[in-house]
Amino acid sequence: MSHLSQKPSATENVRRSASIISTGAYLPSRILTNADLEKMVETSDDWILSRTGIRERRIAREDEFTSDMGAAAARQALELGGIDPGSIDLIIVATCTPDTAFPSTACHIQHKIGAKRAAAFDLQAACSGFLYALVTADQFIASGIYKTIMVIGAEKLSSIVNWQDRNTCVLFGDGAGAVILQHRPGARGLLAYDLGADGGQGDILSIPAGGCRLPITPGVLDQRLQYIQMSGKEVFKCAVTAMNRSAEDCLEKAGLKAEHLRWIIPHQANFRIVDAVAQRLNVSLEHFVMNLDRYGNTSSACMPIALHETSMAGKLERGDLLLMVSFGGGLTWASTVLEW
Ligand code: UT7
Repeated sequence: MSHLSQKPSATENVRRSASIISTGAYLPSRILTNADLEKMVETSDDWILSRTGIRERRIAREDEFTSDMGAAAARQALELGGIDPGSIDLIIVATCTPDTAFPSTACHIQHKIGAKRAAAFDLQAACSGFLYALVTADQFIASGIYKTIMVIGAEKLSSIVNWQDRNTCVLFGDGAGAVILQHRPGARGLLAYDLGADGGQGDILSIPAGGCRLPITPGVLDQRLQYIQMSGKEVFKCAVTAMNRSAEDCLEKAGLKAEHLRWIIPHQANFRIVDAVAQRLNVSLEHFVMNLDRYGNTSSACMPIALHETSMAGKLERGDLLLMVSFGGGLTWASTVLEW
């Protein structure tokens, strides 16, 4: 049944922005440390830690897929929110490592959690995917079309990493996070956002093969073009510039200054990128939520995981202001300011 026929009534014309009602996360149990990587490629704990801030990352089992991790995070969010899966109107999954090209990972998860009424689709904006999905969900809630939306960031990046390439294989990890969104009367929820992209620079962070441009052939597999290719230095520079600009634009749209924020959740790619953003915003690193050291770069999963862990640690109170800022392949970037 299509829910798009449910138009907001004339009396509901005030914008009803989305609030995060509950969170969940899932991390695979297998830990891959920097010492483990020393045995796989020519690298060192010292190089990885000093250049990135990463100590270890989680790796999913061979038979554990993006949808399994996403469903586990989703079930926790449902349980913590006391929400019945049957009341979910829409599931949006941000991922660049879908189980299958189609059905979408959102459809796999819809089935796994029994959200029978929910519409479901995937959204691809690489590491910025979770924030793109959050903003998309907010539009459906603000328009009154949907009441309860699940947004999931889930990635099995270990399946698209070239484990022979030390430039990239030390950086990424697997995991999933989920949030449930509703309009909460009296709460301001999502206050402002900034989304952006520069498709002209897509080549500096990409997976060249596997789509219709370069289908998988034995030659493609020999060249390992089905894996992540990245010009690290270029990406680093673009990330710092785009994240700073996006965060500042978003704060301006919200009518806030960085000093009003309780927490900043940055994309977890490199501690040095976060440090540069902190300096530019003139905010102490104590206000930045980090999970990079434990999980590496989990792309679209890192933000909902960080949100969940911060909430579970009792470090989020109603009314707290949060900035989330991300950057990823595409190139894409995104920021949101929300009131918890
Ligand atoms: O989420 C998507 C967004 N992704 C990012 O934001 C990643 C952004 N980029 C980065 O985080 C950094 O550029 C890296 C961590 C990827 C690399 O750090 P870097 O300081 O830019 O190093 P580099 O690429 O300039 O490499 C310096 C040296 C090179 O050796 P030579 O050419 O100077 O002899 C690399 O071959 O370090 C070497 N190197 C390594 N050495 C040991 C590269 N990877 C490794 C490694 N272990 N794992």
